[in-house]
Amino acid sequence: MTNPVKTGLLQPRPGFLTPIYRELRPLEHYLLRDHLLRLSPESRVFRFGSPVSERLINSYCRNEGRPMPIICGAFIGDTLRGVVELRFDRSLPRYFAELGISVEDDWQDIGIGSRLMELALRCARDNGIARLEVNFLPHNVAMRRLAWKFGAGFSHQTGLTKGIFTLKDPNFAAVAGSKRPQ
Ligand SMILES: CC(C)(COP(=O)(O)OP(=O)(O)OC[C@H]1O[C@@H](n2cnc3c(N)ncnc32)[C@H](O)[C@@H]1OP(=O)(O)O)[C@@H](O)C(=O)NCCC(=O)NCCS
Repeated sequence: MTNPVKTGLLQPRPGFLTPIYRELRPLEHYLLRDHLLRLSPESRVFRFGSPVSERLINSYCRNEGRPMPIICGAFIGDTLRGVVELRFDRSLPRYFAELGISVEDDWQDIGIGSRLMELALRCARDNGIARLEVNFLPHNVAMRRLAWKFGAGFSHQTGLTKGIFTLKDPNFAAVAGSKRPQ
């Protein structure tokens, strides 16, 4: 059955604030912290795979000593209500990234996660990322559904499920308008 709220948000109607989806500028990365702190304890567990304190979120968002992530968001009004992060690891090649995604509780299940995934996969291709992984708890039905919908393969490790996206045609040059042979 069609979810009327989902349909309503995807097809903007008077009285509804339409989410704006876009990549955050590095100067806006600080917005991530408040978004993560607004998640319910359950959503935080789903996001990080275990309970995380405010202190840990602060430290995660400082991102000290780690490569700068790519962060895309869904803004409703001025507030960042949904986020997808592409994170890099210094010990791994740059074409490999880990994805983390979160939508604030009151805004879940109305299509925002799906739009963020679309944006993340486009950004990943634009940045030459060939392999993207998302780790989640096995009973995280929404994340499993989302990963499956966007073509992930799955592997199972102790306590976690890994969704793997293989991006066959990273197309950053084409998107940038390059005439270089693809
Ligand atoms: C996972 C998450 C990002 C999905 O975001 P969302 O905005 O709810 O996603 P959508 O509304 O686009 O829904 C995606 C799919 O999941 C399904 N879904 C959403 N919430 C669900 C729920 N609670 N139970 C079952 N299915 C659910 C939707 O029906 C949809 O399936 P469909 O496209 O076949 O209709 C969101 O639930 C969330 O932030 N969870 C906490 C953080 C987290 O789990 N992160 C993942 C690990 S990094």
